[in-house]
Amino acid sequence: MKLDLRRENLLKHTFVDFQQMSDFVQHPLILERAQGLYYWDIEGRRYFDAIGGIFVATLGHGHPRLLEAMRRQMEKMTFAPPLHGIAGVTLDFVEKLGSVAPGNLRYVKSFSGGSEATEAAMKFVRQYFKQTGHPGKYKFISRYQGYHGGTAGAMSASGTGARKTPFEPHMGGYLKVFPPTYYRGRFSSWEECNRFAAQAVEDVILHEDPETVAGVILEPVGNTGGIITPTPEYFRMLREICTRHNVMLIFDEVITGFGKTGAMFAAQTFGVTPDIICCGKGLSSGVVPIGAMIAREDMADAFWGRPEDQVQFAHGHTFAGNPLASAVGMAVIDEITENALDRQANGLGEYLAARLEGLKKYGVVREVRGKGILRGVELVRDTDSLEPFPELGTAMRRTALRNGLILRVDPTWFAVAPALIATEADLDEMCALIEKSLVEALEQVRGEACLTIDTCRSTAVEA
Ligand SMILES: Cc1ncc(COP(=O)(O)O)c(C=O)c1O
Repeated sequence: MKLDLRRENLLKHTFVDFQQMSDFVQHPLILERAQGLYYWDIEGRRYFDAIGGIFVATLGHGHPRLLEAMRRQMEKMTFAPPLHGIAGVTLDFVEKLGSVAPGNLRYVKSFSGGSEATEAAMKFVRQYFKQTGHPGKYKFISRYQGYHGGTAGAMSASGTGARKTPFEPHMGGYLKVFPPTYYRGRFSSWEECNRFAAQAVEDVILHEDPETVAGVILEPVGNTGGIITPTPEYFRMLREICTRHNVMLIFDEVITGFGKTGAMFAAQTFGVTPDIICCGKGLSSGVVPIGAMIAREDMADAFWGRPEDQVQFAHGHTFAGNPLASAVGMAVIDEITENALDRQANGLGEYLAARLEGLKKYGVVREVRGKGILRGVELVRDTDSLEPFPELGTAMRRTALRNGLILRVDPTWFAVAPALIATEADLDEMCALIEKSLVEALEQVRGEACLTIDTCRSTAVEA
């Protein structure tokens, strides 16, 4: 993409997330429009959106039902802070979201994004324990490689080094355990490894003193870290451990929510009901910023008292419970449930996984992981050493863009999560682009590696 001088200068006045701008300006991507499974840039080039923007466009971009819901709500009311009152449409949304959540998760508070949801959930849990006779319970256990958002508490719970270290020290009371993938080389079976990783959570609770531990927060399928997909037993064990020690189990379903894993929430996919679910992203399919926490109904009782008791949830955001977001959120849920798009993601996911497994023939894929249409591929130098291959991912990020493909590359793995409306033919198109981009990246990396070795050799001979 060629940039004019104005845009080139403007890029010096802003940042894109988590990218070095000096590198970005060499390979800029400036988008202009989106429809269905595609984006178009300002030069009119089309890109297959293999990741729903960033795990957001669950129903594709510009879904007519969602735009219509937004339009209708815009004509009535676009803003009502959840302070003097609550928008009627937001109350409807509370009912709708509660109706598709597992168990008795019916207490809904909606926000403008995922970080607000995870942050609020952790505040909610701390206040809950203060008001239910356990004021010493304040610590949270989360996982290395996990990500729960960019705000202070959410970041403290996150375990992604590079996104955290510039801002240290973080908030106190946040402890970490490793996800099961971290230990997988040390066990003879994946199941055994998951058992060990789940048991480690209880070991930490016991060593910290259960009366100080408030919650365990994790992504059921961990994006950062490479679509980490534990066994159902891992979740069952965590559920039992948390119940045993009166610790709240919080599922951060900001990515996994709304059909991607084959059910409305990954909690349902894995057959485990947490105490709180945090969600966002796919809940609006990208039409409007949104986030929400859904807590056990009985937890909310602890916040219900006389005005002089001051037990109300001491938390709020100006744009929370936004009427436009509520209208769109309800339309997303209706579209998924009426068309069983979540269940459909199971079959599509199997098809997608089989196609991605086919990439193993290049000898640089360790594993294809995930559930439903949320899938990740781990890249290695070779399948004997299993050494990570970050150069390959870095090269693939560029070849993919050149080939008109947007996906998430980290760079030791890549992830895809196409919209639930994708057909097998769409997945074929996407996988062909993935394969082309991988092969070109491999050629580049291996070519460059040879070039470097040759250059080194000739320099050595000359010396
Ligand atoms: C699992 C998870 N939780 C929370 C967040 C934060 O959401 P947001 O960026 O909407 O604040 C993200 C964002 O990527 C996420 O992936």
